[in-house]
Amino acid sequence: MNGNSTPIATVERITEFTDDDLAALCEAADAAIIDGGGFGWVTPPGRMALERYFRGLLLVPERELFVCRLDGVIVGSVQLIRPPRNNEAQAFAATLTHSFIAPYARGHGLAKMMTLRVEEGARALGYHVLNLDVRETQSVAIAMYEALGYQPWGRHPAYARVAGKTVAGIFYYKFLQPGGRISG
Ligand SMILES: CC(C)(COP(=O)(O)OP(=O)(O)OC[C@H]1O[C@@H](n2cnc3c(N)ncnc32)[C@H](O)[C@@H]1OP(=O)(O)O)[C@@H](O)C(=O)NCCC(=O)NCCS
Repeated sequence: MNGNSTPIATVERITEFTDDDLAALCEAADAAIIDGGGFGWVTPPGRMALERYFRGLLLVPERELFVCRLDGVIVGSVQLIRPPRNNEAQAFAATLTHSFIAPYARGHGLAKMMTLRVEEGARALGYHVLNLDVRETQSVAIAMYEALGYQPWGRHPAYARVAGKTVAGIFYYKFLQPGGRISG
Protein backbone atom coordinates (compact mmCIF):
# COMPACT_ATOMS: atom_id res chain seq x y z
CA MET A 1 0.00 0.00 0.00
CA ASN A 2 1.07 3.61 -0.57
CA GLY A 3 0.65 6.27 2.10
CA ASN A 4 -3.01 6.81 1.13
CA SER A 5 -5.73 4.25 1.72
CA THR A 6 -6.37 3.85 -2.02
CA PRO A 7 -3.83 1.59 -3.73
CA ILE A 8 -2.36 2.83 -7.01
CA ALA A 9 -3.64 0.84 -9.99
CA THR A 10 -1.63 0.69 -13.22
CA VAL A 11 -1.62 -1.35 -16.43
CA GLU A 12 1.22 -1.87 -18.89
CA ARG A 13 2.43 -4.15 -21.65
CA ILE A 14 5.31 -6.29 -20.45
CA THR A 15 8.03 -7.75 -22.68
CA GLU A 16 10.45 -9.09 -20.08
CA PHE A 17 10.20 -10.17 -16.46
CA THR A 18 12.17 -9.30 -13.37
CA ASP A 19 12.27 -12.19 -10.90
CA ASP A 20 9.86 -10.29 -8.61
CA ASP A 21 7.39 -9.61 -11.43
CA LEU A 22 7.37 -13.23 -12.58
CA ALA A 23 6.90 -14.46 -9.01
CA ALA A 24 4.00 -12.05 -8.43
CA LEU A 25 2.35 -12.97 -11.74
CA CYS A 26 2.59 -16.69 -10.96
CA GLU A 27 1.16 -16.10 -7.49
CA ALA A 28 -1.74 -14.10 -8.94
CA ALA A 29 -2.42 -16.76 -11.59
CA ASP A 30 -2.23 -19.53 -9.01
CA ALA A 31 -4.76 -17.74 -6.77
CA ALA A 32 -7.10 -17.08 -9.73
CA ILE A 33 -6.94 -20.73 -10.83
CA ILE A 34 -7.71 -21.98 -7.31
CA ASP A 35 -10.65 -19.55 -7.24
CA GLY A 36 -11.97 -21.08 -10.48
CA GLY A 37 -10.96 -18.04 -12.45
CA GLY A 38 -11.40 -18.97 -16.10
CA PHE A 39 -7.71 -18.88 -16.99
CA GLY A 40 -7.84 -22.18 -18.88
CA TRP A 41 -6.32 -24.21 -16.08
CA VAL A 42 -8.79 -25.75 -13.68
CA THR A 43 -6.16 -27.09 -11.29
CA PRO A 44 -2.98 -25.17 -10.43
CA PRO A 45 -0.14 -26.62 -12.54
CA GLY A 46 2.58 -25.68 -10.04
CA ARG A 47 5.01 -22.78 -9.93
CA MET A 48 7.56 -24.21 -12.39
CA ALA A 49 4.90 -24.84 -15.04
CA LEU A 50 3.46 -21.34 -14.59
CA GLU A 51 6.91 -19.76 -14.89
CA ARG A 52 7.62 -21.75 -18.06
CA TYR A 53 4.22 -20.77 -19.42
CA PHE A 54 4.71 -17.02 -18.87
CA ARG A 55 8.34 -17.02 -20.05
CA GLY A 56 7.29 -18.92 -23.18
CA LEU A 57 4.41 -16.53 -23.76
CA LEU A 58 6.79 -13.60 -24.18
CA LEU A 59 8.46 -15.49 -27.04
CA VAL A 60 5.28 -16.02 -29.06
CA PRO A 61 5.28 -13.42 -31.88
CA GLU A 62 1.49 -13.14 -32.13
CA ARG A 63 0.92 -12.61 -28.40
CA GLU A 64 1.22 -9.49 -26.28
CA LEU A 65 1.02 -9.70 -22.51
CA PHE A 66 -0.43 -6.88 -20.44
CA VAL A 67 -0.19 -6.86 -16.66
CA CYS A 68 -1.85 -4.78 -13.98
CA ARG A 69 -0.32 -3.74 -10.71
CA LEU A 70 -1.59 -2.59 -7.35
CA ASP A 71 1.07 -0.41 -5.73
CA GLY A 72 3.64 -1.82 -8.14
CA VAL A 73 2.90 -5.51 -7.56
CA ILE A 74 1.53 -7.56 -10.48
CA VAL A 75 -1.93 -8.91 -9.61
CA GLY A 76 -3.40 -9.89 -12.99
CA SER A 77 -2.88 -10.11 -16.70
CA VAL A 78 -4.54 -10.31 -20.10
CA GLN A 79 -3.31 -11.27 -23.56
CA LEU A 80 -3.81 -9.74 -26.99
CA ILE A 81 -3.53 -12.23 -29.84
CA ARG A 82 -2.84 -10.93 -33.33
CA PRO A 83 -4.00 -13.04 -36.28
CA PRO A 84 -1.33 -15.20 -37.92
CA ARG A 85 0.23 -13.73 -41.06
CA ASN A 86 -1.37 -16.29 -43.35
CA ASN A 87 -4.85 -15.20 -42.26
CA GLU A 88 -5.28 -12.29 -44.65
CA ALA A 89 -9.06 -12.66 -44.62
CA GLN A 90 -9.20 -11.92 -40.87
CA ALA A 91 -6.22 -9.60 -40.67
CA PHE A 92 -8.48 -6.83 -39.27
CA ALA A 93 -9.41 -8.75 -36.09
CA ALA A 94 -7.49 -9.44 -32.89
CA THR A 95 -8.49 -11.45 -29.83
CA LEU A 96 -8.46 -10.61 -26.12
CA THR A 97 -7.95 -13.71 -23.97
CA HIS A 98 -6.99 -15.09 -20.55
CA SER A 99 -7.99 -12.04 -18.54
CA PHE A 100 -7.77 -12.57 -14.81
CA ILE A 101 -7.31 -10.62 -11.62
CA ALA A 102 -6.14 -12.33 -8.43
CA PRO A 103 -9.05 -12.64 -5.98
CA TYR A 104 -7.19 -10.47 -3.45
CA ALA A 105 -7.01 -7.58 -5.96
CA ARG A 106 -10.53 -7.50 -7.38
CA GLY A 107 -12.89 -4.54 -7.25
CA HIS A 108 -10.27 -1.85 -7.93
CA GLY A 109 -11.21 -1.36 -11.56
CA LEU A 110 -8.17 -3.27 -12.82
CA ALA A 111 -9.96 -5.62 -15.24
CA LYS A 112 -11.71 -2.69 -16.84
CA MET A 113 -8.42 -0.77 -17.11
CA MET A 114 -6.73 -3.81 -18.67
CA THR A 115 -9.52 -4.29 -21.19
CA LEU A 116 -9.40 -0.63 -22.24
CA ARG A 117 -5.58 -0.83 -22.50
CA VAL A 118 -5.79 -3.90 -24.76
CA GLU A 119 -8.37 -2.10 -26.92
CA GLU A 120 -6.04 0.90 -27.15
CA GLY A 121 -3.14 -1.41 -28.11
CA ALA A 122 -5.20 -3.22 -30.73
CA ARG A 123 -6.46 0.08 -32.15
CA ALA A 124 -2.91 1.43 -32.34
CA LEU A 125 -1.88 -1.69 -34.27
CA GLY A 126 -4.65 -0.94 -36.77
CA TYR A 127 -7.15 -3.64 -35.80
CA HIS A 128 -10.83 -2.92 -36.37
CA VAL A 129 -12.40 -5.71 -34.32
CA LEU A 130 -11.62 -7.27 -30.96
CA ASN A 131 -13.05 -10.73 -30.26
CA LEU A 132 -13.30 -12.52 -26.95
CA ASP A 133 -15.11 -15.40 -25.32
CA VAL A 134 -15.99 -16.20 -21.76
CA ARG A 135 -17.55 -18.99 -19.75
CA GLU A 136 -21.25 -18.41 -19.20
CA THR A 137 -20.63 -18.81 -15.46
CA GLN A 138 -18.29 -15.76 -15.30
CA SER A 139 -21.08 -13.30 -14.60
CA VAL A 140 -18.87 -10.41 -13.43
CA ALA A 141 -16.77 -10.62 -16.60
CA ILE A 142 -19.90 -10.84 -18.77
CA ALA A 143 -21.43 -7.76 -17.13
CA MET A 144 -18.16 -5.86 -17.54
CA TYR A 145 -17.68 -6.73 -21.23
CA GLU A 146 -21.29 -5.91 -22.09
CA ALA A 147 -20.99 -2.57 -20.23
CA LEU A 148 -17.87 -1.87 -22.32
CA GLY A 149 -19.84 -2.39 -25.53
CA TYR A 150 -19.00 -5.99 -26.46
CA GLN A 151 -21.74 -7.57 -28.54
CA PRO A 152 -22.69 -11.19 -27.91
CA TRP A 153 -22.99 -13.14 -31.17
CA GLY A 154 -23.10 -16.74 -30.11
CA ARG A 155 -23.30 -19.29 -27.35
CA HIS A 156 -21.30 -22.51 -27.46
CA PRO A 157 -23.06 -25.16 -25.34
CA ALA A 158 -19.90 -27.25 -24.86
CA TYR A 159 -17.29 -24.54 -24.36
CA ALA A 160 -15.35 -25.87 -21.35
CA ARG A 161 -15.19 -28.73 -18.86
CA VAL A 162 -14.83 -27.69 -15.24
CA ALA A 163 -15.05 -30.04 -12.25
CA GLY A 164 -16.61 -32.75 -14.36
CA LYS A 165 -19.30 -30.45 -15.76
CA THR A 166 -19.71 -29.04 -19.25
CA VAL A 167 -19.94 -25.25 -19.20
CA ALA A 168 -21.32 -23.09 -22.01
CA GLY A 169 -19.44 -20.09 -23.36
CA ILE A 170 -20.47 -16.74 -24.83
CA PHE A 171 -18.67 -15.19 -27.80
CA TYR A 172 -18.36 -11.41 -28.20
CA TYR A 173 -17.01 -8.84 -30.64
CA LYS A 174 -16.44 -5.10 -30.45
CA PHE A 175 -15.71 -2.70 -33.30
CA LEU A 176 -12.70 -0.62 -32.35
CA GLN A 177 -12.92 2.17 -34.90
CA PRO A 178 -15.60 4.87 -34.87
CA GLY A 179 -18.72 3.88 -36.78
CA GLY A 180 -17.73 0.21 -36.87
CA ARG A 181 -16.20 0.58 -40.33
CA ILE A 182 -13.66 -1.95 -41.52
CA SER A 183 -11.28 -0.55 -44.11
CA GLY A 184 -7.87 -1.25 -45.55
C1 LIG B 1 -13.89 -10.66 -14.09
C2 LIG B 1 -12.69 -10.08 -13.35
C3 LIG B 1 -11.51 -10.07 -14.36
C4 LIG B 1 -13.03 -8.66 -12.89
O1 LIG B 1 -11.88 -8.11 -12.27
P1 LIG B 1 -11.92 -6.78 -11.35
O2 LIG B 1 -10.61 -6.12 -11.50
O3 LIG B 1 -12.40 -7.11 -10.01
O4 LIG B 1 -13.04 -5.93 -12.11
P2 LIG B 1 -13.17 -4.35 -12.05
O5 LIG B 1 -12.85 -3.88 -10.67
O6 LIG B 1 -12.42 -3.74 -13.19
O7 LIG B 1 -14.72 -4.16 -12.27
C5 LIG B 1 -15.29 -4.22 -13.56
C6 LIG B 1 -16.77 -4.00 -13.42
O8 LIG B 1 -17.36 -5.13 -12.78
C7 LIG B 1 -18.03 -4.71 -11.57
N1 LIG B 1 -17.76 -5.74 -10.57
C8 LIG B 1 -16.55 -6.11 -10.11
N2 LIG B 1 -16.68 -7.09 -9.21
C9 LIG B 1 -18.01 -7.32 -9.09
C10 LIG B 1 -18.78 -8.24 -8.33
N3 LIG B 1 -18.22 -9.14 -7.50
N4 LIG B 1 -20.13 -8.21 -8.47
C11 LIG B 1 -20.72 -7.33 -9.32
N5 LIG B 1 -20.02 -6.44 -10.07
C12 LIG B 1 -18.70 -6.44 -9.96
C13 LIG B 1 -17.42 -3.39 -11.21
O9 LIG B 1 -18.33 -2.61 -10.46
C14 LIG B 1 -17.09 -2.79 -12.54
O10 LIG B 1 -18.22 -2.16 -13.10
P3 LIG B 1 -18.32 -0.56 -13.18
O11 LIG B 1 -17.24 -0.12 -14.11
O12 LIG B 1 -19.69 -0.35 -13.70
O13 LIG B 1 -18.09 -0.08 -11.79
C15 LIG B 1 -12.30 -10.91 -12.13
O14 LIG B 1 -13.42 -11.03 -11.31
C16 LIG B 1 -11.78 -12.29 -12.48
O15 LIG B 1 -10.57 -12.46 -12.70
N6 LIG B 1 -12.70 -13.26 -12.55
C17 LIG B 1 -12.34 -14.61 -12.91
C18 LIG B 1 -11.76 -14.74 -14.32
C19 LIG B 1 -12.64 -14.21 -15.39
O16 LIG B 1 -13.87 -14.22 -15.33
N7 LIG B 1 -12.00 -13.74 -16.45
C20 LIG B 1 -12.64 -13.22 -17.61
C21 LIG B 1 -12.61 -14.25 -18.68
S1 LIG B 1 -11.99 -13.58 -20.17
